[in-house]
Parts: sequence; structure tokens; C-alpha cells
Amino acid sequence: MNVPHTARINIAIDGPAGAGKSTVARMVASSLQYIYVDTGAMYRAVTFKALEAGLSTEDNELVGRLAKELDITLLPGTDAQRVLVNGEDVSSRLRTLDINRSVSYIARLETVRYRMAELQRQMALSKGVVMDGRDIGTHVLPDAELKIFLTATPRERATRRYLELGPDAGISLNQLEQEIKERDRLDEEREIAPLLRAPDARLIDSTGRTVDEVAEEIVQWGIAVARTILAEEK
Ligand code: DC
Repeated sequence: MNVPHTARINIAIDGPAGAGKSTVARMVASSLQYIYVDTGAMYRAVTFKALEAGLSTEDNELVGRLAKELDITLLPGTDAQRVLVNGEDVSSRLRTLDINRSVSYIARLETVRYRMAELQRQMALSKGVVMDGRDIGTHVLPDAELKIFLTATPRERATRRYLELGPDAGISLNQLEQEIKERDRLDEEREIAPLLRAPDARLIDSTGRTVDEVAEEIVQWGIAVARTILAEEK
């Protein structure tokens, strides 16, 4: 969809794991011809490198130093976004169970969060960005013109992950639901930039809804907000 005659805005989409943020954010970005930034993939890329280097996921100083030195590039792909770390495409290695289990610990480190937020703000400087994560509306882009908090029940989110991983992954639906709840707890209870709904974020519960429906709703809100801003600027 081409969206002429509107201002370019930034859209922040936050919410817990498995709520459908990345799929929805990618669709919204494509409809509006905006750039999609998957911030979870950035934390996953740091986790991948930290595990590869044998660092402890609790080592604020060493992992922070590693994060600072990494060159993380996000490239739009046909299906999912591609993630390059120091020029190497690591996209297919970021969604393993090992990384799922460690990433919430890496994402608690102050040094890592500081560096990621800095990179993410740079990416959003020229507007026209749809960024998904946990702290985008509250911390990274508190001035984003449209903020969404996208959620779904833990069972529904576990079911989506189960279908994504496939039965050969060797993990049951119940186990996945427990892991999702544990990840929610870690993300919500961490001291720095926890998973939190910004007071001005619009709440969407995606349980039982299709990604197309949810994406379309956000696109329509985005267009309305952008038109209002343009009218005010005139
Ligand atoms: O969205 P995801 O499952 O790919 O995110 C991976 C992890 O990164 C998740 O446990 C929370 C963390 N994360 C975060 O703390 N802040 C963000 N902005 C994005 C992700």
C-alpha cells in the first residue's frame, strides 16, 4: 500500500514473547513502506556471540564489551529480517532453544541494554520505522508517535512457538508454556527497562485473531496518526 500525503512516524510495538510482534511489525512496515527493526534479534545476536565466546550470561562487563564491539546490521529479507554480525549472516542460528534460554539473562545486563538502545535510537532517527521489542515505547523511543502493546495468553503464545519449532524439536507444549511464563517473569521483573505497557500504548490482545487483522488495525491507526500530525504541521 502506498501511503502518500502523510507524515512519517515511528511505531513502537512491545509485548511478551510469542505475541506475534515480529510478524505483525513486518507486515505493518511493508504496508507503510517503513523499515522494520526487530530488537529481539539484536539481543539474540549478542547472546549468540557471548555463548560462542564462552562468556557467562551474567558477566555485565565482558558481555557489554563484546556488545560494544559487535557490528550488528539488520537487513530486510523476503521472509524474515536477516541479521549480520561483523558481516556474517547469523539469522538462521538465532532461534535455537539454547538462545531462547539464555537471551533473557543477556537482556538483563545494563551494559548490553545501554548499547542496544543507543543503536536502536540511531536506526529510528530519520523516522518511518516500525520497531518491536519490550521497552521500545517506554524507554528506547518514548516519543514514538504510535505505541502498541501486543499480547496474547501464555497458552496461545506457547502453541504458536510449538508450531514454529515443530514436533521434532523435542519439547512439549506444556514445557514451552512454562518456559514462556518464566521468560515473561524475567522480562517483567528485571530492574532495567522491564517489559511494561507504556501508559499511552494501545493494547491489542491477539488471542484468537489473525496477524492480518491485527496488522491492518495498526496500519489504520498509523495512517490516522500520521495524517493528524501532517494536518497540525500545516
Ligand atoms: O522478541 P524475542 O523473543 O526475539 O526477544 C528475545 C529476548 O530479548 C527476550 O527474552 C527479551 C529480550 N528483549 C528485550 O529485553 N528488549 C527488547 N527490546 C527486545 C527483546
